[in-house]
Amino acid sequence: MLVSVNNERIDFMYKKIKLPYDSLKPIIIDEVLNTHYNNHYGKYVDNLNNLVGNISYTIKDILIHIEDFEQEKRSLVLFNAGGVLNHELYFQNMTPKVKYNENLNKLLIKQYGSLENFIKNFKESANSLQGSGYTFLVLNKDKFDIINLPNQENPYSYGMKPLLALDLWEHAYYLQYKSDRKQYIDNFFNIINYDEVYKRYEKENQQKK
Ligand SMILES: [Fe+2]
Repeated sequence: MLVSVNNERIDFMYKKIKLPYDSLKPIIIDEVLNTHYNNHYGKYVDNLNNLVGNISYTIKDILIHIEDFEQEKRSLVLFNAGGVLNHELYFQNMTPKVKYNENLNKLLIKQYGSLENFIKNFKESANSLQGSGYTFLVLNKDKFDIINLPNQENPYSYGMKPLLALDLWEHAYYLQYKSDRKQYIDNFFNIINYDEVYKRYEKENQQKK
């Protein structure tokens, strides 16, 4: 195995973030969030721990340095590491009532002309996704970008920094919205925590220096 095991942290495991299941009602009902958290996100965390739980890599490290892993394990490691990180981005960038951030607003307006235009672009991208995947707002070099990625791929694998993630797998909405994915996408904008998005933006900018 090419991965170096950090003996001091041999018991290192990826831990689940905490999430109150009723925190996003009525946009996302408890049953959906509970199932999503435990049955889906929880599974990715367990799988990742079973695959590579004893290493000292952060999940971002795994995605960026996937070549450190044995070739035959890479796609499974990538899938599950992406599955953990994408869900954490998604769960953490939601809040019961939309929280705007002035600093981020200014940056988004600078690039997209208005916040409404940014939202319009994001929705168009999300509505165009075929199959399972995510729409992300990313930092691509010094600019924002809105991208779709399939399955559990993550922008870090492409040199981009994820700032905001929208889970578009059916398990994220089908139980509640049935086939009305468009409504789920529209409603997502009522529960975004832009403070969290801006925090990620600042962190990524600091890490560049
Ligand atoms: Fe999901």
